Amino acid sequence: MIWPAESIWEAVYPLLPDFTVEVLPQIDSSNSELMRRIRAGQCEPTLLVAEQQTAGRGRLGRDWHSQVGDSLTFSLALPLAPADWSGLSLAVGVSVVDSLHADLQLKWPNDVWLQGRKLAGILIETASTGDQRVAVVGIGINIAPRAGDGLSTAPAWLQEVLPDVDAGQALLRIAAPLVQALKAFEIGGFAPFQAQFDQRDLLRDRAVNLSNGTVGMARGVDAQGGLLLQTPNGLQTVTSAEVSVRPAATSTPAV
Ligand code: BTN
Repeated sequence: MIWPAESIWEAVYPLLPDFTVEVLPQIDSSNSELMRRIRAGQCEPTLLVAEQQTAGRGRLGRDWHSQVGDSLTFSLALPLAPADWSGLSLAVGVSVVDSLHADLQLKWPNDVWLQGRKLAGILIETASTGDQRVAVVGIGINIAPRAGDGLSTAPAWLQEVLPDVDAGQALLRIAAPLVQALKAFEIGGFAPFQAQFDQRDLLRDRAVNLSNGTVGMARGVDAQGGLLLQTPNGLQTVTSAEVSVRPAATSTPAV
């Protein structure tokens, strides 16, 4: 795989003069590696691409599996100082889908879906050194069908809608707009992204089940990125990143 590292650097450098791009053939997890570096005092903006992850991590303590050549796995470390961090992962999701394809949707808080199947996942962590807090934005995208998978099996992959785009080109599309989105978030929080999220919202007006047992109708998100849920007990706002949400399989609840 030839990565367009120089083109990515040229696109991002005007936004971040001390920015570096690095490609590693193998690492446990690009997020873990950047978190270790930040804790060791290295806080420079860095885009770290992992050609292979041996211990990729997902949200809620899950594993993230990917195969060499079939996926894009990378993390971006960027010092950030927003007044309010809430909604950051949704803003990142908006940026990623806008960079890739009009048919992609977002499943709160930030899974990227295509035609009813998951295409990409986002894991955001933060680490601090001194008084500086650094966001580590990790993104995993299925690019091609996994070797051995039949054509009709989940999950989705990007080349279903962009047949000529490989992992490097996908990263080139994503990188500079993502940095711009993070800088916009730092200034304005999630509110400027809310309308774009609404347009991509997979769950809106659908019955959903939360992993904590709550059921209701998803009614969009608020200006902080909280999921608005109409339940039998009234409108609730779900903010916890520890809760997972699934579209209900059958009929809608009576709310
Ligand atoms: C999820 O859907 O649960 C989030 C998945 C995030 C996976 C990416 S791959 C690059 C980065 N490194 C990791 O270990 N995880 C993220």
